[in-house]
Amino acid sequence: MKGLILSGGTGTRLRPITYTSAKQLVPVANKPILFYAIETIQDAGITDIGIVIGDTGEEVKAAVGDGDRWGVKVTYIEQESPLGLAHAVKIAHDFIEDDDFVMYLGDNLVKEGINGLVKEFKQTNCNCQILLSHVKDPQRFGVAELSNGKVIGLVEKPKEPKSDLALVGVYMFDKSIFEAVNAIKPSRRNELEITDAIQYLIDKRYVVHPHIIDGWWKDTGKLEDLLEANRIMLELIDERIDGNVDDKTQVLGKVIVEKGAVIKESIIRGPAIIGYNSEIVNSYVGPFTSIHDNVKIKESEVEHSIILADCLINDIGSRIEDTLLGRNVKVHKSDTKPKAYRLMVGDNSEIEVI
Ligand code: TTP
Repeated sequence: MKGLILSGGTGTRLRPITYTSAKQLVPVANKPILFYAIETIQDAGITDIGIVIGDTGEEVKAAVGDGDRWGVKVTYIEQESPLGLAHAVKIAHDFIEDDDFVMYLGDNLVKEGINGLVKEFKQTNCNCQILLSHVKDPQRFGVAELSNGKVIGLVEKPKEPKSDLALVGVYMFDKSIFEAVNAIKPSRRNELEITDAIQYLIDKRYVVHPHIIDGWWKDTGKLEDLLEANRIMLELIDERIDGNVDDKTQVLGKVIVEKGAVIKESIIRGPAIIGYNSEIVNSYVGPFTSIHDNVKIKESEVEHSIILADCLINDIGSRIEDTLLGRNVKVHKSDTKPKAYRLMVGDNSEIEVI
């Protein structure tokens, strides 16, 4: 069995971060989301992994390399533009050949892993296994309709969903999916939809097996979900202090302080992680915060946020919360007159002031 991770796409919902970076490389608990996908697939015993890449391909290649680090072999598959999940399957045919495979959306996290699911797929001898999860807002997802435990229909982002069962971003296929992706036509949004391809399998009486998961999973395509993923993953960390923490600092709960990090006269309340060579001075870092490498936080308070590498936060009057700061962002107090907010911010950013 092979693995296929989708790491192309546009990432419109995470702009402006995705103007300059792949959303699959945004770190959650200081580890790129994509790395969790690779680990999950490797953990299920799959070592031959294809990664579909788009505009941000070079960055993905630089971060992942040849897969040696995880004991897997990575093959990159270039998608000329984000023409849909089924299009990504179509262009991966040469890599997959006639093998069975698991397709994993590179911005999804499945906490319980996929070992059991891969076994179930093999045991049921079906042509396709889809994962479903009960959600509050099915309009945002591909939605499945079941009858007597069988999948009878699938619709992408329906206005009037027939159930609350959303497709989770992990699918298992045999070679029949290639017949489907070659037969279907682009949708109204001009994408080859994976829901249409699976609907084709259902219509042609191939066996599509549903598995309803009750564990936690997340599509991290937008900020709120990314922060939730960060929260869940930080809860799983093991406390470790490899950096330098002075005796005027209080470290409470599960906290990782990486090598080279320096913390002075501060309160760090976990779960939280402070990256390599970061500096926290006279500040408060609250629960569910991931501070990446080489960040400086001085005279400030940050909580429930993801702060990427090389940022500076200095002397902010109020607490920063529910925030994602891209790399090398500076947020600091200014005494320059006239007293005003002075911003230099990219397109599609959002700033809330008090
Ligand atoms: P989506 O999140 O559905 O799409 P997107 O990345 O374009 O994001 P947005 O809706 O915010 O514009 O994609 C799910 C995953 O699949 C994600 O990791 C990107 C990847 N993908 C591809 O690799 N190729 C594609 O053609 C598409 C549509 C997505």
